[in-house]
Amino acid sequence: MPVGKTLISAAQIHRRTRELGQLISNDHAGKELVVLGLMNGSIFFLTDLLRSITIPTRLETCRLQSYQDTHTTGQIRGIENLEGEFRGKHVLVVDDILDTGLTLSKLTAALRAQKPRSLRTAVLLSKQVARKARVTAHYIGFEIPNHFVIGYGLDYNGAYRSLPSIHLFNPA
Ligand code: XMP
Repeated sequence: MPVGKTLISAAQIHRRTRELGQLISNDHAGKELVVLGLMNGSIFFLTDLLRSITIPTRLETCRLQSYQDTHTTGQIRGIENLEGEFRGKHVLVVDDILDTGLTLSKLTAALRAQKPRSLRTAVLLSKQVARKARVTAHYIGFEIPNHFVIGYGLDYNGAYRSLPSIHLFNPA
């Protein structure tokens, strides 16, 4: 059965997302935030987080891909499709999970070139693993062990994304 043990329940995700939304709102009080969601993995975290942020936001999305099966290809496809106006803006990047760090490191480098006024990152999950890029996230929902996970936006080759909780993935 590919859907393994529940690692983080829907209720835990809901509570933590509200806390993060509050924290982000406090840290950016009086400002407008451009929220850049990385598709598809962050889709549920992004929409739940956005609704927990109480300051004005504008939404941008970017579709990136790096994983094949349960392994990173080491190549981040899609950064060239980065659209939106980030110059002089307060920007928050939202992703599902920080793993090797390659995605956030390459994306934030591309964003910095556009000279945002501030740039922060939020991830629902951070894997306890040796990073391949020196990067961390400003806002982290949960630290998790080094295991492939599925659910709440995270997929295995496109499947299991809509599970409401986060589960360990059991390969066949
Ligand atoms: P990196 O390695 O660039 O990873 O920090 C970020 C992207 O890799 C995907 N990823 C996963 N997807 N279960 C998934 O479904 C996982 O355990 C996992 N680890 C990494 C994800 O797309 C993330 O944005």
